[in-house]
Amino acid sequence: MNMLAAIPTYNEALNIDAFIKTLFEHIPQNAEILVIDDNSPDGTAALVEKLIPSYPARLHILNRPEKQGLAAAYLAAFNWGFNRDYDVFLEMDADFSHKPEYIPKMLKEISAYDVVIGSRNIKGGGVEGWSVIRNMISKGGSLYSRMVLGCPIKDLTGGFNMWHKTALEKICLQNIISRGYSFQVEMKYRSFCAGCSIKEIPIIFPDRKYGKSKMSKGIFMEALINIWKIKKAVGRESGIDQFVKFAITGGLGTVTNLAIFFVCVDKLSLSEIPVSIICFLIAGTQNYIINHKWSFVQNMAYKKLSIKTWAMFIGASLLGLAVNIIVLKIVLSHFIFPFKFIAQGCGILAGMAINFIVSKLVIFRGK
Ligand code: GDD
Ligand code: MN
Repeated sequence: MNMLAAIPTYNEALNIDAFIKTLFEHIPQNAEILVIDDNSPDGTAALVEKLIPSYPARLHILNRPEKQGLAAAYLAAFNWGFNRDYDVFLEMDADFSHKPEYIPKMLKEISAYDVVIGSRNIKGGGVEGWSVIRNMISKGGSLYSRMVLGCPIKDLTGGFNMWHKTALEKICLQNIISRGYSFQVEMKYRSFCAGCSIKEIPIIFPDRKYGKSKMSKGIFMEALINIWKIKKAVGRESGIDQFVKFAITGGLGTVTNLAIFFVCVDKLSLSEIPVSIICFLIAGTQNYIINHKWSFVQNMAYKKLSIKTWAMFIGASLLGLAVNIIVLKIVLSHFIFPFKFIAQGCGILAGMAINFIVSKLVIFRGK
């Protein structure tokens, strides 16, 4: 099996030289290493580049212009390796917290499983040199993620994992929404949902000796919230679910529209046409926000509301209105109904369908 070890680094100058040398001692003869460095200010990349001639065609570096987080680094590494015929991908930290000694055992397991997880939370696994508080936070975070996601993996947050190429294909990496530390949770949860076979092997995780962890309280809190976004994003909603939400949103918009119209025209005696336009814009804005935050939240969980998408949505609403009027005209001229509102009903449905299609495929696509 061809293995690529993907090693993200940010300010690991104190570790990287010894780490790469040690790693090469524990991986198969044909295995390769890719370091993904985000332009570490401490010169990590230069140290790696100095080692490259000693391991011709086996040590690679991907230099990225700025710090973009762990998820971006790993995704770049997988993309890099996908075109190069590796069967197995290994994720690990560059700071010796993930001991290279475990790799042969992981490789043995990966011949029978899609995913092998180095686990601190099963019998035989654990952490060393952690304060009671840090241990509690980590264990609590893992338990919380497991409960929210309903996923039986014991170490969801750990970063010492081996992936069969087929597992990465099943996960559909382009759909990953995490950018920070919840990346590890999302990868594992997606592989679980995709039906991959998963094996946890016990690992002891010593605290790093040199350098600093990049995991901050802020990143940790963000990860706790992201778990919910992951849950929403992975349990895919059908187009019908989205259409029902979209229709309810449209109904609410109509109520808002009528209410403002009633107050401004019937109570305050303002003129109808300008009020009608204002009503359209206000209801349209309300629909835009609800669709973004609710109907299409699975695509938009990581996107912000923006003037651009708002304008597109108002445009799509106008398009819907135009289709509504056209259909109304056509139906009225071709069929005879006891009540004309039936023709208007057809127009509304057609307009809504157009608006929905444009919203789903273009405005709230989320890519
Ligand atoms: N390229 C790149 N870009 N590398 C990064 C970045 C980044 O923005 N941030 C961190 N790294 C590198 C570090 O240099 C290290 O090699 C590895 O990613 C993990 O970062 P650490 O700072 O050592 O993380 P940790 O030890 O606190 O967290 C570990 O345990 C967590 C769970 O307890 C990691 O394994 C996490 O993945 C894991 O979730
Ligand atoms: Mn670490």
